[in-house]
Amino acid sequence: MKRLEGKVVLISGTGGGQGRAAALRFAREGAIVVGCDTNRKEHAQTAQLMAAEGYSLYGNAPIDLGDHEQVRDWVESAVAAHGKIDVLYNNASAARFAPVQDMSIEDWHFTIRNEVDLVFYATKYAWNHLAKQKGVIINVSSTAAWGGSKVAGISAHSAAKGAVVSFTRQLAVEGAPVGIRAVSLSPGFIATPGTAAFMENPQARAALLDGVLMDRPGEPEEVVAMALFIASDEASFITGSDIVIDGGLLAI
Ligand SMILES: NC(=O)c1ccc[n+]([C@@H]2O[C@H](COP(=O)([O-])OP(=O)(O)OC[C@H]3O[C@@H](n4cnc5c(N)ncnc54)[C@H](O)[C@@H]3O)[C@@H](O)[C@H]2O)c1
Repeated sequence: MKRLEGKVVLISGTGGGQGRAAALRFAREGAIVVGCDTNRKEHAQTAQLMAAEGYSLYGNAPIDLGDHEQVRDWVESAVAAHGKIDVLYNNASAARFAPVQDMSIEDWHFTIRNEVDLVFYATKYAWNHLAKQKGVIINVSSTAAWGGSKVAGISAHSAAKGAVVSFTRQLAVEGAPVGIRAVSLSPGFIATPGTAAFMENPQARAALLDGVLMDRPGEPEEVVAMALFIASDEASFITGSDIVIDGGLLAI
C-alpha cells in the first residue's frame, strides 16, 4: 500500500532541490502532485524526471508565490482540476544575506516576502479546502530559526524562518478543531541548488559543516523522508511541532 495513495498534495518550489525530491517521492507514494516555481526551466525538468518514471507533475511555472493573486489562482486551479487538497507543503523560499548594518531595505523585504508572505498566502487560500479533507500543512523552516551563523549575514533569513515556526504553531492551534495538522521542518545544511555556491567554496563549505556531527551536508531526500511521514496518516498525533533535520548541528 502506498503511503499517500490518491492524496492531492500541493508542493511549492518544485524547480528546486528539495521540491524536486519531494515531487518525485510523493508521486511514488501515490500522491497527485501539484507543483509550482518561479523557475520555469527547472520546474519543467522536474516534470521530465517524473514523466520518465510514469508520473505527472501538475501545476505550472512561472508562478510567483510572493504575489497573493497568483497563489490564489494556483490553489483554486488545483481544486478545480483535482477536486480537493489533502496536503500543502510550503517548501519554496528565497533569501538574501548581508551583515545587518549593510542589509538593504529592499533585501530585507525581499526575504520576508519570499520566506514568510508566501507561506501565509498559500495557507490562507488552501485552508478551507484542507479543513474539508482533515489535511496537513508542512512548512519548511530552517536551523536558522534556532541559531545564528558565523558564515553568512542571515538576520532577515533567521527572522523569516523563526516566523515560519511560530506561524506553524498557531496554525496547529487553529487547525485542531477542524482536523488540520500543521508541522514545520527545520533542515540544516542540505546540498541543493540553493546552497551550491557555498558547497563550491571550500572555506564556506568547511565553515557550514563546522559542528555538523555527521560531517557532511544532508541530501534533499533526507528532509523529504520526514515530510512524507508527516504528510501520512502515521503522523496522526503530531501537530504544532518543529522537527529538526540537521545531522546533529544543534546538538552542540
Ligand atoms: N538547502 C539548505 O541548506 C536549506 C537549509 C534549511 C532550510 N532550507 C529550506 O528548504 C526549502 C527548500 O529549499 P532548497 O534547499 O530546495 O532550495 P532551492 O533554492 O533549491 O529551491 C527553492 C525553490 O523555491 C523557488 N522559489 C523561491 N521563491 C519563490 C516564489 N516567490 N514563488 C515560487 N517559487 C519560489 C525557487 O525558484 C527554487 O526553485 C526552503 O524553504 C529553504 O529555505 C534549505
